[in-house]
Amino acid sequence: LTVADKPRSGTSLRIDGARLLDRLDRLAEIGGGEDGGVTRMGFSDADQEARAHVARQAAEAGLTATVDAGGNLLIRRPGDHRGSHRPPILVGSHLDTVANGGRLDGAYGVIAALEVLQTLHEAGAETDHEVIAISFANEEGALFPQPFWGSMVFAGRLDALPSEPEDYSGRPLRDALARVGGDLSQLKTATWAPGSLTAYLELHVEQGPVLERLGRSIGVVESITGRIHMSVQINGKAGHAGTTPMEGRQDPLVVAARLIHVVQGLAREEKLCRVATVGRMEVQPNSPNTIPNSVRLDVDLRDSDPARLAAAEQTVRGALAALARLGNVRAVIESTVRSAPVQTDRRIRDAIAASATELGHSQETLPSGAGHDAQIVADLAPVGMIFVPSIDGVSHVPSERTSPEDLVIGAEVLLRTVLKL
Ligand code: GLV
Ligand code: MN
Ligand code: MN
Ligand code: MN
Repeated sequence: LTVADKPRSGTSLRIDGARLLDRLDRLAEIGGGEDGGVTRMGFSDADQEARAHVARQAAEAGLTATVDAGGNLLIRRPGDHRGSHRPPILVGSHLDTVANGGRLDGAYGVIAALEVLQTLHEAGAETDHEVIAISFANEEGALFPQPFWGSMVFAGRLDALPSEPEDYSGRPLRDALARVGGDLSQLKTATWAPGSLTAYLELHVEQGPVLERLGRSIGVVESITGRIHMSVQINGKAGHAGTTPMEGRQDPLVVAARLIHVVQGLAREEKLCRVATVGRMEVQPNSPNTIPNSVRLDVDLRDSDPARLAAAEQTVRGALAALARLGNVRAVIESTVRSAPVQTDRRIRDAIAASATELGHSQETLPSGAGHDAQIVADLAPVGMIFVPSIDGVSHVPSERTSPEDLVIGAEVLLRTVLKL
C-alpha cells in the first residue's frame, strides 16, 4: 500500500460503517418478507434484482461490475493493474438466500467486499495485489439444486456439474443464467487456474452460538465442514385412500418417513456424522385422500472427516435400498454435492487475528459448521474466513441478526486483512 497511512501505522483506512449498514438495510428489502425474512433464491427474479442493485452501487462508486459465464458478479477498480505485481486478492460471498432466510447470510460478505473496494478506490490506494470483489452465483441451491454453483464454475470443477441443470420444477438453468448475463456454453471462460489468486477472503455471519457465548467480536475460521448432499426420488403407486387395502400398498411417503428417521439416527444415535438433515420434501400428488405416487427429498450430511462422511453416505444408500424393497417401491439416489472439509490458510488466519488485535477486538478461532464458497475456492487458492457473532446463534431463518457494531467491526477487520496479505 502506498497511501500515506499504511495499515501498520495505526491511522489506517477506515470503511464507512454507516454506508455499509444502510446498504445492508436496502439490500434486505429485495426479496424481503413481512416477518423480516428474505427470499432471494439463486437466479430468481429477486436475486436478479439484487445483483443489478449491487452492480449499480458499484458503478455509482466508480467501480466496474461484470458477470462471468457462470453468473458470478465481479467488481473491480477501473484502470490497469500493472502496479499490482502479484495475483489478485478475491473478497466476497453470495447474494442468494434460502427460502425465507436471513438478511445477512452471504449478503454481508458481498456488501462488505464492495465497501472495502470502494474505500481503497476513494483513497486512491495502490495495492500490490489487485483486489476484486465477487458475489458467487447460487451458493445455497434453493431453487436450482446445485449449491456452490458459481464457485464450482470459478474453481473449474465443471465435470462435477450437471451439463443441463434444471430447477426443482424442471426449468433449465441455461435460460436463467442467460437472463443474468451468464452463458452455460461458455463456462470454461469463467474458470480460474490454481495459483491465479493470492488469496480468497470471505466475511460471514457465524450462523452459530460460539462467538456470542464467548463474548468475542471476531471469529477466525480454521476449518470448514465437509458436506454431502443427496437427492432421493421414490416412486410408488397412487391409489384411493379409502378403498385401497393396506395390504399391497406401494406408498413412497411411508418409505420416505422411514428414511428420514434413519437419517436423523445417523447423527443423533449412531454418531456416524456430525449432523444429518432432511430439509426438503415434495409429495405427488400431495392430496389428503390419495396414496402418493412419488416423493422427492433432499438429504444433507456434514462432518469434518471425509471418511465418516463417506460411511454415512453409504449407510443412507444402503438403508434406502432396503426400505424400498420392504415398501415395494422404486428408489433412486444421487449425490449432487460433495464438498470436502477444508482447512483455511494459516498465514491468512494469522493476518486476520493480527488485524483484529491491532483494531482492539477480541477474537476466537473456530470451525465452520456451515458450507461456504471458500471451501470450493480452496481448490485453487489459499482461503480465509472471518466470522462475526450471530445474535442467538440462528441463521437460515428470518430472525438472523448481528449487531450493527459487530457488522462494522467485521468489515474493518476484512479491510485490514486485505491490506496485510
Ligand atoms: C450453506 O448455506 C450451507 O447450507 O451451509
Ligand atoms: Mn446459507
Ligand atoms: Mn452463506
Ligand atoms: Mn501483499
